[in-house]
Amino acid sequence: MTFLTRLKAETHALHMELEQALPLGRPGLTLPQYGAVLETFAAVVFPLEERLRQLAWNDAFEVEARWRSEALLQDLSGLELKLPAPASQFQTLTPLQGMGALYVLEGSRLGGAIIARDLARLGLNATHGAAFFSPSAHLAPDWKRFKEALTREVTEDEETEVVSGAQLTYQVFLSAWREKSKLDKVTE
Ligand code: HEM
Repeated sequence: MTFLTRLKAETHALHMELEQALPLGRPGLTLPQYGAVLETFAAVVFPLEERLRQLAWNDAFEVEARWRSEALLQDLSGLELKLPAPASQFQTLTPLQGMGALYVLEGSRLGGAIIARDLARLGLNATHGAAFFSPSAHLAPDWKRFKEALTREVTEDEETEVVSGAQLTYQVFLSAWREKSKLDKVTE
C-alpha cells in the first residue's frame, strides 16, 4: 500500500463524518447555516495556519500557495461576520503532524466544485462569500503536486505520525462544528 492510499484509508471515516455533519451540499442550506460553517472553519484554520507557518517546509510543498486564511477572511467580511476566537491551539503539532494537517487543509479544496454550486444558489461566488470553497482553475495539478511532495518527503517510519496529524485535524474540525451548531442551534 502506498503512503497516500494509507493516509486516505485511515482518514476516510473522519472525512465521511465531517461531510455528513456539515450542512454543505444540502438542498436547503441557508445563509445563517453557511455563515456558521465559515465561522467554524475560520476558528480552526487561523490557529492551525499560525502553527503551520512556524514549521520549516521543503519547497516541494509550495506552502505559500496553500494557505487558506485569506480566503476565509474575505468570505467572513463579505457576509459581515467577524473573525471568531480560535477553536483550538495547535502549538504542540509536530512537523510531521503538520504535514498531515496540511493534507486535510489542502484536501478541503476538493469538495469545492460541488459545494460552490450550492453556494451559487445563495447568491455567493468566488468574489462574494465563497472564496474558500470556490475551486481554482489549477486545482487538479496543484493537488497532484501536493500528493507527490507528500510521497517524496514522508519516509515509512514517519507515516504514522503524519496520519495522526491528519486525524487530529479532522477531529478538531468535527468538534468545533459540533460545538458551534449546538451554540447556534443550527440544524445539522
Ligand atoms: C460537504 C463537504 C465536502 C464534500 C462534498 C467533499 C467532497 C470531496 C470529494 C468529492 C473528494 C474527492 C475529490 C477527488 O478525489 O478528486 C474529497 C476529497 C478530500 N476531502 Fe472532501 N469534501 C467535503 C468536505 C471536506 C472538508 C471540510 C475537508 C477538510 C477539512 C475535506 C478534506 C478532504 C481531503 C483531505 C480529501 C482528499 C482525500 C484523498 O484523496 O486523499 N473535505 N472531498
